[in-house]
Amino acid sequence: MAVSLVIGTQWGDEGKGKVVDYFSKDAHYVIRYQGGNNAGHTIKVGKEIYTLHLIPSGVIQGKTGIIGNGVVVDPEVLIDEINELRIRGITPKLLISDRANIIMSYHKILDGAEEKYLKNAKIGTTKRGIGPCYSDKISRKGIRAIDLLNKESLSKKLDIILPIKEKLFEIYKIDEKLDKNMILKKYLDYGKSLRDYIVPAHIEINKAINSGKKILFEGAQGTMLDVDFGTYPYTTSSHTIAGGSSIGSGVGPHHINDIIGIVKAYTTRVGGGPLPTEQINEIGKHLQTKGGEFGATTGRPRRCGWLDLVVVKHSCMISGITKIAITKLDVLNGLDKIKVCIKYDLNKKEIDYFPANIDDVKKCRPIYKDFKGWKEIKSGTSKFERLPEQAKKYLKFIEKELKIPISIVSIGPARNETIEV
Ligand code: GDP
Ligand code: IMO
Ligand code: MG
Repeated sequence: MAVSLVIGTQWGDEGKGKVVDYFSKDAHYVIRYQGGNNAGHTIKVGKEIYTLHLIPSGVIQGKTGIIGNGVVVDPEVLIDEINELRIRGITPKLLISDRANIIMSYHKILDGAEEKYLKNAKIGTTKRGIGPCYSDKISRKGIRAIDLLNKESLSKKLDIILPIKEKLFEIYKIDEKLDKNMILKKYLDYGKSLRDYIVPAHIEINKAINSGKKILFEGAQGTMLDVDFGTYPYTTSSHTIAGGSSIGSGVGPHHINDIIGIVKAYTTRVGGGPLPTEQINEIGKHLQTKGGEFGATTGRPRRCGWLDLVVVKHSCMISGITKIAITKLDVLNGLDKIKVCIKYDLNKKEIDYFPANIDDVKKCRPIYKDFKGWKEIKSGTSKFERLPEQAKKYLKFIEKELKIPISIVSIGPARNETIEV
């Protein structure tokens, strides 16, 4: 397994941080390739809990983290994150692609303003400037990491960009003024702090692959937040699917051997947009409380519901997932009955695919298969065979439906609460 990839198959927060940390022990490099500090990846080591937003989770295991060209970087957040880790005794080994786009102060302001403009139709973004930054990248008005190291090029770009942003500020009735000199100084200062990390990362990564080093890609968000294949427009603005790793790092797709899809044993979502299996009832409360389902980035409560296999199958197909890691199985402990969505009813017709039209998605009624629950999973369970019979039935059903082997079952946030199957 020279190059492998961990991605979320649902709406994010599947436990990617935990699983990436687990697999990092065998990796040389851990690479983030999309998203930005909208992500919140949690790693539990003994009593210590680390929540990383930008720095790849592998640094906790002492591995080199790479922030690929496909990531959008808020330098202020990154510098804080580096410093916070240092205070806690970890000096992260880190590289940042010179081509990564930079989240500017005006992106954050515009993210909030766009949401306000949308009123009830708002996306429920993390307000970290992700959407406006990716929009600028695609319309070729982005600032890239390399620009933070060159006063002249940054200044020239700001001369073109800022008047457009000022017009947008007028449209959105934003009072704040954009002071070019202040912005230039602030971002050149960030450049000074980050200078040693900014490199042509794609060259480093390809050299590593060619010399047989092990690479682990760390996806952020999940398939249903992918800008093409998710619940558009209630998505993020990047390609969260496996294909994004190639684009967001400069690695040819044929190099990737293993694609590990993380499936939370139920479903959660933060922000707006449809969630077909949502449970606004005692079940939802059980999942939220037992699962500690509050956003690692914004602290917002996560909406909770039953596992949706229409969603997970959609993810497996699009990303060519080769292995499944089930997480948070322990959260289902104590439920009498557990349901899994296997199809939708759309306008009285059964469908087994995820519709493109968001209004159709809103009309989809889940068709469930019922399972008997189990009381508890004994702490210290380290073998699949030792799981409760009903839990094994649940997992085997998932495996059979997806036609992809389950290779990991996670039964708690800590490293040793992981069963290799
Ligand atoms: P990510 O964004 O996919 O990395 O996931 P988050 O870190 O945002 O959210 C997952 C949460 O569940 C974190 O608080 C993890 O510590 C926790 N977690 C991960 N795996 C398990 C598990 O198997 N059981 C329980 N109870 N918690 C878990
Ligand atoms: P991790 O990597 C869960 C959601 C936001 C919002 C939508 C768009 O921790 O799984 P954005 O700020 O990206 O423009 O917001 O996407 N979202 C996430 N939800 N986990 C995440 O990351 C998310 N990153 C973005 O809540 O609905
Ligand atoms: Mg998260």
